[in-house]
Amino acid sequence: MQDSHKPDLDDSLNVTESHERLLRDAAAVAREKRVDEGGQEPVSNWIFATGGLIAIAAGLALGHAGGLFDYHSYVEPGYVRSSLGGGEDAGPPPVDALKGYMAKGEKVFAKCVGCHGPDGKGGGAYPSLAGSEWAMGPTERFSQIVLNGLTGPTSTGKVFGVMPAQGVGMSPTDLASVMTYVRNSFGNEKGEVVTEGMAAKAIEISEGRANAGTPVTKEELNSEHLQDLPGEPLDPATKVDPVSLAPVEE
Ligand code: HEC
Repeated sequence: MQDSHKPDLDDSLNVTESHERLLRDAAAVAREKRVDEGGQEPVSNWIFATGGLIAIAAGLALGHAGGLFDYHSYVEPGYVRSSLGGGEDAGPPPVDALKGYMAKGEKVFAKCVGCHGPDGKGGGAYPSLAGSEWAMGPTERFSQIVLNGLTGPTSTGKVFGVMPAQGVGMSPTDLASVMTYVRNSFGNEKGEVVTEGMAAKAIEISEGRANAGTPVTKEELNSEHLQDLPGEPLDPATKVDPVSLAPVEE
């Protein structure tokens, strides 16, 4: 007669055994699965290769037609992906382009403050940037003043002297942001962003000037640079990285 309170040795052995059997079965199933897949490998590779080629061909065809697989319809050129998730290495949160360019531009404007003043109003030997036709007008003209300096009459016809070139060591981002800052400060309200791409063009144009290395004159400005810089304008509300000013996907 068996004591029901006493653990049954046989039973507990059985438990271990069935446990082991379970593990064995699971391993066998996994093995079989691998073998199965292995067995089908040549076929599936074939299918994948053929299917892949068809997909690529179709993608190219559609892509050329501006259709389904056109990368640019999903990701705009020049955009970078913001880091996913709110992890520790996620950078500072994106800001509106206008705000980001203005903040950076205020720092670059330190180059100009000594002459044009923190309020941009100039005074004495320096012209005001508040309401300046050449700061507010076509972006190519403004950019060439900043990069090369200016001599002779200013936009008002008044001659102050010579503004020295400011382009040395100025990155496209610096130039774009300081131009954006001037065009949206001191009462100036363009509401537009001069982009890094436009500023890069400005630097190219400056380097290609016939009289590169000398300050621009009113005559040159109005005969050769009386236009906006080429480049895609950036919606002021586009989200950008506050440091690099590169647009980010959200
Ligand atoms: C060393 C002094 C000095 C610095 C620094 C300087 N400027 Fe000037 N700027 C001048 C002078 C002087 C003129 C007028 C030159 C003339 O009479 O031809 C001028 C003219 C201008 C004009 C033309 C204004 C008009 O309406 O005709 C603009 C725009 C301008 N500066 C922008 C800037 C910006 C932006 C910076 C900084 C990146 C800057 N300047 C840095 C001295 C300076």
